[in-house]
Amino acid sequence: MSLDETAQPTDPLDSSADTDSSADTDLDAELATVVEADSEWWRTAVIYQIYPRSFADSDGDGIGDLPGITRRLDSLADLGVDAVWLSPFYTSPQKDAGYDVADYCDVDPLFGTLADFDALRAKATALGLRVIVDIVPNHSSSAHPWFQAALEAGPGSVERSHYLFRDGRGSNGELPPNNWKSVFGGDAWSRVTEADGTPGQWYLHLFDSSQPDFDWTSEWVREQFLGVLRFWLDRGVDGFRVDVAHGMIKKAGLPDYTPPADGGSMGGGQNEGETPPYWAQDGVHEIYRSWRKVLDSYPGERILVAEAWVEPLAKLANWVRPDEMQQAFNFSYLESGWSASSIRRVIDASIEVFSSVGAPSTWVLSNHDVVRHASRLALTADNPQGAGIGPKSKGLPDRAIGLARARAASAVMLALPGSAYLYQGEELGLPEAIDLPDEARQDPTWFRTRGERYGRDGCRVPLPWEAASPAFGFNTTGESWLPQPADWGAYARDTETGDPSSTLELYRLALDTRSRLALGSGSVEWLSGYGPEVVAFRNGDVTVIANTGAIPVELPVAEELLSTVPLDGAALPSDATVWLRS
Ligand code: NOJ
Repeated sequence: MSLDETAQPTDPLDSSADTDSSADTDLDAELATVVEADSEWWRTAVIYQIYPRSFADSDGDGIGDLPGITRRLDSLADLGVDAVWLSPFYTSPQKDAGYDVADYCDVDPLFGTLADFDALRAKATALGLRVIVDIVPNHSSSAHPWFQAALEAGPGSVERSHYLFRDGRGSNGELPPNNWKSVFGGDAWSRVTEADGTPGQWYLHLFDSSQPDFDWTSEWVREQFLGVLRFWLDRGVDGFRVDVAHGMIKKAGLPDYTPPADGGSMGGGQNEGETPPYWAQDGVHEIYRSWRKVLDSYPGERILVAEAWVEPLAKLANWVRPDEMQQAFNFSYLESGWSASSIRRVIDASIEVFSSVGAPSTWVLSNHDVVRHASRLALTADNPQGAGIGPKSKGLPDRAIGLARARAASAVMLALPGSAYLYQGEELGLPEAIDLPDEARQDPTWFRTRGERYGRDGCRVPLPWEAASPAFGFNTTGESWLPQPADWGAYARDTETGDPSSTLELYRLALDTRSRLALGSGSVEWLSGYGPEVVAFRNGDVTVIANTGAIPVELPVAEELLSTVPLDGAALPSDATVWLRS
């Protein structure tokens, strides 16, 4: 596939033809959609995260793959999303589910081939879906030839300068070079054995020991990644989700740092007012400026989205200045919980800080690193991000409450201006898989903390497609790399399709209404008089009311566009959201 064939923006006339079929299409909104299709599509896009190993499995080995995704892409076009983001499918020993890359420019045989990627890209284009891929620049796999060459070349070599090798402390170098801890638990340093068989230098790994950090002060490293960007841009991708986009530069001298005790998050924990020496260093920005220049040299609108666990939001806005990335995940929103005051506060802050640099706000409630929001929003005990939940966790959620809140929270999110990210399965209302057997768990967090933290497997269980098929239609053999809960037939796509009370139909209606009424390019005007436990705002013609409290909320008389619960009279019950038009 040549770049010329794939680089064209979606034909705006095609997308308008789709919306034309709806009887009540508003002409202004339709025109807005056509203009957006041509320019800066990402400002309002709804982007669906595909976690390849758990989406759809074409060869029956129990691990999802690219041909499986291609076959099921229609269902995402049908859902009404604008783009997909694929988590890593590159060559990898899979020590961290593919975030340990051994070849940035090839597909792991587990997932298929480059030709399979091209086929996926072509099908997505035909369906009007853009494709964003992951790039993992903070670290490679220890199996990467660059790291293997560094091991072989020995201390002081150019090859070692591509990674963060240091001599140890102590009289014989037996102590790690500093006190940094891995995000996944344990020390952030491992010691190598040199070619002569003696214990040698240490290398830094902010994540698993199989994920050595690059030294981004190396020009050579920078050049390699410009090449990786070009490789995928040439294959027609619409952008990159940048892994650990706050971590690539470390403070000179690698000084000791002790984060707060609950610092289990991807941000690694941050003391009030302090910037950890391994996160959010100013030097990362010049890297993204150079990347942006490469993206802008390609036709169409190719984007960078930062996975940067940076607080406060005002600081995160630095990642999306006009010459850097277009978007950053809004993890403050993800972490705002089911509390009206927090939600209002984060919405206000997000719109203010992102628009101050000309960027759209993003919104996200779930991804492959956090407890699914259909469970998280009903937890009754603290659960630091990354810790996960399992059978012995405290404060386990009530499933019905979690689902009601998730539906209500998603309905708030999808009414907001800006760009929203969905994580596969949330449109089915999938809960976290809590009861995974210990022996099935695969997250390095589980192993590195010796089971103290369950980790992220519970949000990564393969999707249910058809209630009555093997592995609920994930494949035809019934194999599944993580066991699917026996009751997941109730969440299968075919069970939910056509059922107006299902979460799938709720998402379809929300996405269709969002697009028809151009909510993504609207604004938020807060409505007063609803009380502290209510989120109430107008976006264009749409009034959105969400009740996070226990007392029913009286609703104005208006046309109901969408409700997350059947409305019985003029009151909105607890844990529910309604969209009205007057
Ligand atoms: C963030 C990714 O989302 C997560 O899954 C991964 O483990 C770490 N970065 C390390 O790459």
